[in-house]
Amino acid sequence: MRFSGIWRETRARTAVVGEAWVVNGRNGDVRADSGQYLAGMLGRVRLMINAQGLARTFQTSNYSTVEAVRGIDLHVAEGELVAFLGPNGAGKSTTLRMLTTLLPPTSGTATVAGFDIASDPGEVRRCIGYVGQGDGAGHMQRVRDELITQGRCYGIGAAESRHRADELLEQLQLTEQANQKVMTLSGGQKRRLDVALGLVHRPGLLFLDEPSTGLDPQNRANLWSHILRLREETGMTIFLTTHYLDEADAMAERVMVMDRGEVIADDTADGLKADLAARSDLAQPTLDDVFLDLTGRSLRDSFMPAVAAAA
Ligand SMILES: Nc1ncnc2c1ncn2[C@@H]1O[C@H](COP(=O)(O)OP(=O)(O)OP(=O)(O)O)[C@@H](O)[C@H]1O
Ligand SMILES: [Mg+2]
Repeated sequence: MRFSGIWRETRARTAVVGEAWVVNGRNGDVRADSGQYLAGMLGRVRLMINAQGLARTFQTSNYSTVEAVRGIDLHVAEGELVAFLGPNGAGKSTTLRMLTTLLPPTSGTATVAGFDIASDPGEVRRCIGYVGQGDGAGHMQRVRDELITQGRCYGIGAAESRHRADELLEQLQLTEQANQKVMTLSGGQKRRLDVALGLVHRPGLLFLDEPSTGLDPQNRANLWSHILRLREETGMTIFLTTHYLDEADAMAERVMVMDRGEVIADDTADGLKADLAARSDLAQPTLDDVFLDLTGRSLRDSFMPAVAAAA
């Protein structure tokens, strides 16, 4: 597996003991706050995602078992923008759904924004925003009402919810569509509304599952400029999936690649490309080259269930 920059350096000097990080192998450095911080070369870093052995298995209708996620460890520090890549069916959305408390893991543990996904799901949800791969918004409501309802669902007062809705409409350039029904929005407008819905309660951590899929290049660029600006303004941690590897290359400080339920690479995009250049005859590999090198060229939609149960 490929590990990156601060993570490669830090992992080389740290070990996990129980839930606490030990730095340089010295017990004196065990953190009392048990696993919510990573201490390393760059000082103390708060972990926004800290998962150990996270796994999810599904029983399918034909009595077989799919090991969608196979015991992965994830450590994402506060403020990072991580692109979580992988072929169709790799297990990305399943991972996000577990981290966002929408789906219980079959095994493993995780803290997200400092709270345990199993014992404290309400606190996790309060601290995170989630923009799923599918539709997030209801279709019959008007755009502004949808945002206000979302605010109220998070326990925000009526006046503050209205204020927040107007603020987000402006930030995501939806003010003109405020009174339109959601079903009448264009694809780009709809996706910007999905992102706005994920931001209503000012989360410190935002999960985005293929936020730009289906958008034209103008709308994609526009959506990313909104997301990057919000991140700059708020210092939000962002964990996103995308199949547009040029986007991941341009924006993410860190790229994780998942395949067949396992994390198979974790580095900067430049680190991954340099690694491939060093062991191939490609002078200037792209992230697409890296992706194909790591995950192969076979189609994953035809990937068969990992374990066939006795039917
Ligand atoms: N509810 C479910 N029941 C049965 N199998 C499921 C279920 N959800 C996901 N899977 C299976 O788990 C595997 C991982 O799916 P997942 O949606 O996590 O992949 P993904 O990496 O997000 O793919 P994509 O890039 O296509 O969105 C797939 O084989 C999928 O068919
Ligand atoms: Mg998915």
